[in-house]
Amino acid sequence: MSTTNHFFIRKLHSFLGLFPISIFLLEHLITNSLAIISPDKFNAAVLFLQNIPYLNLIEILIIALPLIIHGIYGLYIVYIAKNNLLRYSYLRNWMFYLQRVTAVITLLFVVIHVWQLRVAHSLYGLEINFNTIQNQLADPLWFIFYIIGLFATTFHFANGLWNFTVSWGIVVGEQAQTFTWKLCMLLFLLTSFVGLVEIWAFSQ
Ligand code: HEM
Repeated sequence: MSTTNHFFIRKLHSFLGLFPISIFLLEHLITNSLAIISPDKFNAAVLFLQNIPYLNLIEILIIALPLIIHGIYGLYIVYIAKNNLLRYSYLRNWMFYLQRVTAVITLLFVVIHVWQLRVAHSLYGLEINFNTIQNQLADPLWFIFYIIGLFATTFHFANGLWNFTVSWGIVVGEQAQTFTWKLCMLLFLLTSFVGLVEIWAFSQ
C-alpha cells in the first residue's frame, strides 16, 4: 500500500473512532441510564428508538459501517504494533499497549453484545426490554463479561480521545498533553461509573 493511502486510511480510522463511534457510545450510555430511573422509562426509550423511520439504514450507515471499518483496520494496527519501549515514556508506552489490548476486548464484547441484543431481535424476534437484559445479567458469567466489556470500551474510548487530540495536533506540548490525559482518565472513570450503575440497575 502506498504511503498516501496508508496515511489516509489511518486518518479515517482515527476520525471514525471519534465521529460517530464515540458519540454513539456516549448516547448509548445516556439512554441506558434511564434504567436507573425505572424499567418503564427504559422500555419507553427502547420503543422510541425501535420506531425511528429508516432505522436499519441509519444503523448500518452511522453505526455498523464505521465500526466495521474502524474494527478491521484497528485489528491490522494491533497486528503491526511494535512496543516502543524506548521511543515513549514508561506511562505513554503502557497507554499505547492498553489501547491495543482494550481494542481486542472491545471488539469481542461489541460483536457478542450486538449479536445478543440487536441481531437476535431482527432475526429471531427477541423482544428487547428491561427484563431481557435483567435475565441476561442474572447469569454471573455474563455479568462479569459485561463489566469487563464496559471497562475495556470506556478505557479504549477515553484514552483514544487523548490519542486523537495529540495525533491531530489539537493539543501540543508536553504539559498540555499531560493535563489533557488526566482529563481523559477522569472521563474514563466517569463513563465507567455510569456504566456500572446501569449494570447494577438492570440487576435489581
Ligand atoms: C465502542 C467502540 C469503539 C470506540 C468508541 C473506539 C474509539 C476509538 C478512538 C476515539 C480512538 C482514537 C483515534 C486515534 O488514535 O486518533 C481509537 C483508536 C483505536 N481503535 Fe478504537 N474504538 C472502538 C472500537 C474498536 C475496535 C472494535 C477495534 C478493533 C480491534 C479498535 C481498534 C483501535 C485501535 C488499534 C486504535 C489505536 C490507533 C492508534 O493508536 O493509532 N477500536 N478508537
